[in-house]
Amino acid sequence: MISKENFEKFIKKTLKDRKFFIVTNRAPYIHTKTQEGIKVTTNAGGVHTLLDLVAQASNAIYVAYGSGNADKTVVDSHNMIPVPPKIKSYILKRVFLSKKELENYYYGFSNQTLWPLSHAVFVKPEFHTSWWESYQEVNRKFADSILEEIGNKKAFVWVNDYHMALVPKMLKDSGKDIRVGMFWHIPWATYEIFRVNPWGKEILIGMLGSDFIGFHRGYQVQNFIQSVQRMVEAKIDFDQSQITYKNHITKVEPLPAGIDYQEIIDIKKNAKLNLKKHLNREMGTKIEYLAVGVDRLDYTKGLLERFHMINRFLEKYPQFQEKFIYYGIMPYSRTHIPVYRTYSKAVIDLCEKINWRYSHNYWTPIHLNNEGMSRDKVITYYKNADMCLITPLDDGLNLVAKECVLSYEEEVGMIVLSKFAGAADDLRHSLLINPYNIEQGADAIYQALTMPAKEKKERNMKMRNDLKSKNIYSWAIKFIEKTLYE
Ligand code: F6P
Repeated sequence: MISKENFEKFIKKTLKDRKFFIVTNRAPYIHTKTQEGIKVTTNAGGVHTLLDLVAQASNAIYVAYGSGNADKTVVDSHNMIPVPPKIKSYILKRVFLSKKELENYYYGFSNQTLWPLSHAVFVKPEFHTSWWESYQEVNRKFADSILEEIGNKKAFVWVNDYHMALVPKMLKDSGKDIRVGMFWHIPWATYEIFRVNPWGKEILIGMLGSDFIGFHRGYQVQNFIQSVQRMVEAKIDFDQSQITYKNHITKVEPLPAGIDYQEIIDIKKNAKLNLKKHLNREMGTKIEYLAVGVDRLDYTKGLLERFHMINRFLEKYPQFQEKFIYYGIMPYSRTHIPVYRTYSKAVIDLCEKINWRYSHNYWTPIHLNNEGMSRDKVITYYKNADMCLITPLDDGLNLVAKECVLSYEEEVGMIVLSKFAGAADDLRHSLLINPYNIEQGADAIYQALTMPAKEKKERNMKMRNDLKSKNIYSWAIKFIEKTLYE
């Protein structure tokens, strides 16, 4: 296993005098004004959590949008602040956006154009010129913020996700000595879907400023290359998985992200809560089986399908009534976008209907927590689970799936996972389902809860060994090597 220390050494040896930058839209830390003064909190979940760990081990400059209401108060004249608060191992450089930019670039083009366009979930993407214009302007802002810090030095920039598609080309066009790697963390649609984007060609050309582009799964790479082949006058070497556009070579490969194996093992060691006991005491129930799920309230996550599965499971296997509960950590997300509000309401209505149907004595089958939760606490919840239920209709990777497998007890827990999550490749010993197949999902819940301990252990150990060897640091090393040398 590659440790954090190995990674630190690798960075020093490999990047030498190149300044190292990581850029994502969402920042790992936010500062908020409270009655007790300014508080700093972590933005739990998501790609920034992963990249925070990479930044901590590499002295990076991390560039991201400053969304906290006290973010501006605490930064210096370059909009910088050392983080994490106690360790201060790297610099967070904040980019501030106006309400209008947020509306058009983040809620608009990123999350109502590119997000539904990239996920095969049948939500229609919207195309507005004003959103596209703002997306270009905000990408320029991010690129300028990085270029300002590079000055005359050499640099390595790790650009992340669909909010930043134009940044790679903007960086390269500066003429500075910058190696640019881009990681696209969500799926990439087939050409027949992608081609409807009126600015698809510009998006592709923007990304081709990168020296390397990584995706979580092989089919996403193929879809991307096919879009380039059909929309850009570029030369494609399929054997080498390489695109040459205007004399610049971009390598494109699948490189599924790993998680910090050791971090989770350490958090688990200190997790003392007995969640089942706690819930039974609080509710006056006698539950024996606990299923856990952690998702943003997003239409790509297959939440309606998940609750239909639970409904069918309780109907088909009534012996589990009063013995089983599903505990869902499900924070609201992107609520400024109408389809997210409608979806959230539909999910909560369905849960209410199922709870009404089955509730008996003090027992109700579904328990939801719509607040965010600290990372340590979430891992404690996974640790207590008899099963995790993760059912996205389409998902770049799904980090939660990998974290669950590492967190629950190996002879107790099992994961039911959508085969449409990127993580399904690495977690092929889980119970894989098609989330649209409700009957299959209901049976998989039953199978997970009744699987002999020996089989659970065998499956879990296979997955854990894989997660150990392909951890976050080996992922980051491969990403950096591919961007630097290929
Ligand atoms: O993986 C896709 C992604 O957009 C990540 O970039 C992000 O961490 C996560 O989903 C949460 O999205 P948002 O930042 O819009 O809340």
